[in-house]
Amino acid sequence: MDKQSAEKRVKELHDVLNQYNYEYHVLDKPSVPDSEYDQLLRELIELEDQFPDLKTSDSPSERVGGSILESFEKVEHRTPMLSLGNAFNEEDLRDFDRRVRQSVGDDFSYVCELKIDGLAVSLRYEDGVFVQGATRGDGTIGEDITSNLKTIRSIPLKISEPISFEVRGEAFMPKGSFEALNKVKEEKEEEPFANPRNAAAGSLRQLDPKIAASRNLDIFLYALADVGDTGIESHSEGLDRLERLGFKTNQERRRCATIEEVIEFVEGWTDKRPNLPYDIDGIVIKVDALQQQQQLGTTAKSPRWAIAFKFPAEEVVTVLKDIELSIGRTGVLTPTAILDPVRVAGTTVQRASLHNEDLIREKDIKIGDHVVIKKAGDIIPEVVNVLEDKRTGEEQEFKMPTHCPECDSELVRLEGEVALRCINPKCPAQIREGLIHFVSRNAMNIDGLGEKVISQLFREKLIEDVADLYRLEREQLLQLERMGEKSVDNLLEAIEASKENSLEKLLFGLGVRHVGAKAAKTLAQQFHSMEKLMTVSKDELTDINEIGEKMAAAIVAYFDNEEVKELIEELKEAGVNLEYKGPKPVKVSEVDSYFAGKTVVLTGKIEVLSRNEAKDKIEMLGGKVTGSVSKKTDLVIAGEDAGSKLAKANELNIEVWDEDKLMEELNR
Ligand code: IVH
Repeated sequence: MDKQSAEKRVKELHDVLNQYNYEYHVLDKPSVPDSEYDQLLRELIELEDQFPDLKTSDSPSERVGGSILESFEKVEHRTPMLSLGNAFNEEDLRDFDRRVRQSVGDDFSYVCELKIDGLAVSLRYEDGVFVQGATRGDGTIGEDITSNLKTIRSIPLKISEPISFEVRGEAFMPKGSFEALNKVKEEKEEEPFANPRNAAAGSLRQLDPKIAASRNLDIFLYALADVGDTGIESHSEGLDRLERLGFKTNQERRRCATIEEVIEFVEGWTDKRPNLPYDIDGIVIKVDALQQQQQLGTTAKSPRWAIAFKFPAEEVVTVLKDIELSIGRTGVLTPTAILDPVRVAGTTVQRASLHNEDLIREKDIKIGDHVVIKKAGDIIPEVVNVLEDKRTGEEQEFKMPTHCPECDSELVRLEGEVALRCINPKCPAQIREGLIHFVSRNAMNIDGLGEKVISQLFREKLIEDVADLYRLEREQLLQLERMGEKSVDNLLEAIEASKENSLEKLLFGLGVRHVGAKAAKTLAQQFHSMEKLMTVSKDELTDINEIGEKMAAAIVAYFDNEEVKELIEELKEAGVNLEYKGPKPVKVSEVDSYFAGKTVVLTGKIEVLSRNEAKDKIEMLGGKVTGSVSKKTDLVIAGEDAGSKLAKANELNIEVWDEDKLMEELNR
């Protein structure tokens, strides 16, 4: 084909592919089978390969994911991306309504929308072409994730009018795609995503756009960043306009004349939300008229003309079929409820920890009971209570055994503890769990060595302690079930790479009683080498702020053990690094930082940094990051949608910062 005909064909292909794409992904009414779309897309890609200068940035071929980036560029939002104040009950909604009335009088209406649980993005169009897409970041500066966003098929790469403007919306992963993705992850023994929001955020943070392209993400647009001179006078008009331009908006919105109607809408969706094909975490209520929005204005963080009603944690009923017992690496016996699979807060739940026997008694849980399940923090499933009315008399009392189900030694209840323990140090269950812990992400982080492979290796007696991992041979691994050449090579490589880990990972992995990941890091920073740690005294240990008597005693006792000394010698011989490799600790007194010596709590969604990154940075500046708010807390960093911790901080009069202020102090 000559260049001229190619140019003409490329243009035709753009138009027809954009049209098919719009019909399928925005209108949900495909007019051709997928195979036809795919074939036309292939034709376009081939033409672009042949005539590279015919490839434009709005080409439908961008949908499959362009080249891998080195990093994401920062983008300054032309209009800041604000967040919303929260309402948790009817009273909060009525207070909001009163405030609005005081400012604009009684003649106004609201628009209620679903609050999609994904991540906020901003899309910029120039002359009708999608040119840049960004995350919210701190509201002022976000990250340029254009290539990833182009793979979301419901985002038009070109709209029906050649205008320049910015639109805002929520990118998300539908529940179905999320389940399918986690299924694949589980098959590969990879850590599944906790919920669709994390999965969507994780996908859009990938530097390789092909990953986002494979994840079936979607988007609902909910606002124009700035109406400019479009003549639009209300939020609902703005949404209708977006729709006409080819954007996907959520159809479940309603104009409400009174707060009663708003409350009715909120209550309706509180019940109906499990049936939606995507997660929502609340309802957003907005004053419709833009002129009235302006009159109400905004605070530093959020508009006074809108509020987000947050749903209480979703609760569902299911049957508790059985109670299983498992033995942890410290010998603690944990009962787990086996449930009839049920969907709650975005995932299917079939197990929930019951923690200990006391809890089973307290909640009067019997096998066969109908139980109410929710997810604490929307992540960890728990049994809330039993529905006694539903009992038939067939339910069975659960009794804890007197002997370890794995090694049959007598179980003990240590003084002051609610847990029953197996104290046989040779109990195979404990050894196996210890091995699983050793290879886990925060410990030695050996990819490809999940629970299943470890259990298999242990069963086949190929490993009995952690040093054995470093003596595994290729031939031995090849004999295991479902282990091909490639997985074996990858596994050996991962084991080899783990030898280079900094000391804290090994220390945490060894599973010394009371030594968590954080304490392991402190110990590694303070003492630098395993050699030193092995001879450290209890006093030297308790001199460190974060190390108490109990932990110090456990550490000294651990390294005093002959078998431990031998094990460490074996690890050394295998070439495992025994030194600290991270940055030197900062002496609090020397730090000219706001955080020095302060106890900080992080809560809510922080978008520019991951929770762990924020924590590391604060710690590097001499701060201590803890998980719950108490009188000892000096500062609470409240990201978007912060909940009870923020409320507690306000109650205790503790200083609260938003994400912007955090970033400002970290970048100082
Ligand atoms: S309006 C200035 N509408 O909820 C107000 N936000 O704190 C801009 N969200 O992360 C937000 N669905 O991305 C609005 N229909 C909706 C929404 C929505 C989800 C998210 C938003 C932001 C958070 C608000």
